[in-house]
Amino acid sequence: MSTPKIQVLITGATGYIGGTVVQLLLAHPKRDTFEITAYVRSEEKAKVLQTFGLKTAIGTFNESDKLTDLASKADVVINIADADHFAGNKALLNGLKKRYESTKKVPAFIHTSGTGVLNDDALGDRISDTIYYDSKPEQLDALPDTQIHRDVDLEIIGADKAGYARTYIIFPGTIYGTVSGKLVDTGITNRHSVQVPGLIKASLHRGNAAVVGEGKNIWPHVEINDVAQLFVIIFDAALADSAPHGREGIFFAENGEYQLIDVSKEVAKAFYDLGIQNSPEPTPLAEAEVAAYGAQPLGANCRARGERSRALGWKPTKTTEDFIASIRPEVEAIVAQFAQK
Ligand SMILES: NC(=O)c1ccc[n+]([C@@H]2O[C@H](COP(=O)([O-])OP(=O)(O)OC[C@H]3O[C@@H](n4cnc5c(N)ncnc54)[C@H](OP(=O)(O)O)[C@@H]3O)[C@@H](O)[C@H]2O)c1
Repeated sequence: MSTPKIQVLITGATGYIGGTVVQLLLAHPKRDTFEITAYVRSEEKAKVLQTFGLKTAIGTFNESDKLTDLASKADVVINIADADHFAGNKALLNGLKKRYESTKKVPAFIHTSGTGVLNDDALGDRISDTIYYDSKPEQLDALPDTQIHRDVDLEIIGADKAGYARTYIIFPGTIYGTVSGKLVDTGITNRHSVQVPGLIKASLHRGNAAVVGEGKNIWPHVEINDVAQLFVIIFDAALADSAPHGREGIFFAENGEYQLIDVSKEVAKAFYDLGIQNSPEPTPLAEAEVAAYGAQPLGANCRARGERSRALGWKPTKTTEDFIASIRPEVEAIVAQFAQK
């Protein structure tokens, strides 16, 4: 009798991170040992995913019954859709609980959170000396439950403690860069990140590169292909049960730090060269603009070190120089997009 295939459920497969992760899973050396089901919102995108050998299910994060049912059939859930949708994430956990109760085998949950959970209220006016290590869970324990992502993260860690799932939470910093490859080149996945593009779009809207306060605050950065590699390393470790999980199963994805002002200056220089603004300098957002553009997190400090990620063998390759160099092409792509509208 042949060994049944490991059942993997993935959400967010058409996203910036998810599409990149799926692409790596398709090239996994043990690809023939697992079956992937992608939970997606679009029939059209589902059809394209099927041509890559994925199974698909259609639905949104608001459809708890569907999520629970699918997760109850999964050995591993990789959740890359929505870090903050409490009901949707809870529905996935409920499904894993059912899986455990019916099989007596502990399924795995790999979840995407973000280093934003560490954010302070600096609004660009100071550098924080506080550095968080993924190898020191007591630092995360001390965070207020009201921090962004925290309610969902705590629920996930609680599932591990209860014993019905082994949980692994990945916390990427600011992700940047572009991806190419067979799946991504079909155009069904999002090719752009959130944070720097968000700053560029707000800057374009106001006609001048923006900064929050003096932009002194520090964030970690990490390149998209490096992030996807970490997902695969954790996927392998989850299958082998060879990595810490639950409270200890936290993995920061970062490969260096930047100050917001350096990003804003790059945007300003690119805008100046493109004739969008008259001087090559950013200008601070007024208080009302910070609120209108939702820019408060951009001005926060969240300093993170991925020691546990590296202890699993993760070797990110792209540096702060690469991050800064990625900004001008991102500006050019967004300006071109806006020009077409
Ligand atoms: N990018 C970053 O720098 C970064 C850093 C840290 C954490 N994160 C977190 O990582 C997660 C994914 O980020 P991303 O940059 O890959 O975002 P993205 O490109 O917008 O992708 C989101 C994915 O989730 C799907 N999705 C979104 N809402 C959904 C819903 N209600 N129901 C079903 N599917 C839904 C999208 O499907 P459609 O194709 O249908 O839209 C897409 O596949 C987010 O939670 C984000 O907060 C991102």
